[in-house]
Amino acid sequence: MTILVTGGAGFIGSNFVRRWLHRHDELVVNLDKLSYAGNLENLAALSGNRRHEFVRGDICNRELVRSLLSTRRPRAIFHFAAETHVDRSIAETAPFVETNVVGTCTLLDEAKRHWDQLPPSDQNSFRFLQVSTDEVYGSLAADDPPFSESTPYAPNSPYAASKAAADHFVRAYWGTYRLPTLCSNCSNNYGPYQFPEKLIPLTLVNALAGRRLPVYGDGLQRRDWLFVHDHCDALELLLERGRPGETYNVGSGVEQTNLQVVGALCRLLDQVRPLPGSARYEDLIEFVTDRPGHDRRYAIDSAKIRRDTGWQSLTSFDIGLRETASWYLSNSRWLTEVQTGDYRDWINRNYGERASA
Ligand code: NAD
Ligand code: TYD
Repeated sequence: MTILVTGGAGFIGSNFVRRWLHRHDELVVNLDKLSYAGNLENLAALSGNRRHEFVRGDICNRELVRSLLSTRRPRAIFHFAAETHVDRSIAETAPFVETNVVGTCTLLDEAKRHWDQLPPSDQNSFRFLQVSTDEVYGSLAADDPPFSESTPYAPNSPYAASKAAADHFVRAYWGTYRLPTLCSNCSNNYGPYQFPEKLIPLTLVNALAGRRLPVYGDGLQRRDWLFVHDHCDALELLLERGRPGETYNVGSGVEQTNLQVVGALCRLLDQVRPLPGSARYEDLIEFVTDRPGHDRRYAIDSAKIRRDTGWQSLTSFDIGLRETASWYLSNSRWLTEVQTGDYRDWINRNYGERASA
């Protein structure tokens, strides 16, 4: 049997593919266009693994998607491929519409075409899993209950709007055609192989290089952080036990402010890589101009996925952060290689324009 993974050279996708191949004997076809965020080094541990087929290509390329589906005949599609960084979506919306909306629709269309030709028993077991985000729900007030699956979509960033649009198409393919789709809406992930444009790896690489640690606004925005392996486990369980046509929220259930997260990283580095003399990593924190439309609070109620699949978030933030920091400390070559021209251009553009607050 075979699964098709899109975006499997990115952060979550590559963690998912490695875990999947370790636990199953199925083939994985990994379709990724290798955008700035995709990196074959994330898959280096799989070199020589004959059950992993990497295909460089765009999910918007209908002919390619069609030919992969008809020749590899996957029993499921895990759709990770996306443009994922909120700040980039604020700087330029078009790539988000192209990949997240048009790409997802192309994939859905071709998945339906493939599924239409399957025998009934394979049609019943086929799944299209849309890997989405809690950001589609917009922002919570301090005393609101956490997001549930019935919280109305209210995206505030172009990234969130593009994922919301894609999620609606995923739902519509179930509603209209009964293509067995599921959608998971997960909170912020962290862990090994995350591109250092996102808060946790950015803070780690800046701290290790002695650079300032930019905190947007007052740093009191709240997020639910989930260790990436726990997210991958949730997706596997959704394939086995999730109900087609349903959406599932996934999160750790623990909320923290950005300042708490950066502070925890600083204290961890003070222990494992102390600065000379009495210097502390927290001294590097710098409050900078806030992100426009910055959502104040996300919180997730994961009761449904726990009830329907038995999933649990197993990794405490403390343990997950240690594992993450330790991975970045022992993978300096990976880190150097991803901080290339394109990365430096982005950092200069995003942070050069942000005055200290
Ligand atoms: P990422 O940016 O690290 O990786 C995205 C991958 O998709 C890259 O390998 C990139 O090359 C590939 N890609 C981009 N456009 C493509 C296209 N047109 N065709 C083929 N491949 C393409 O992202 P991530 O953090 O691993 O996120 C994966 C998925 O999980 C996304 O759909 C994202 O919305 C969702 N998600 C992420 C988080 C998070 O905290 N990172 C949380 C919830 C949901
Ligand atoms: P990020 O990792 O970009 O993920 P997302 O925007 O998808 O949640 O940001 C996480 C939080 O950290 C978000 O509230 C913005 C904040 N943040 C900073 O304060 N400073 C930074 O340099 C970055 C990249 C993010």
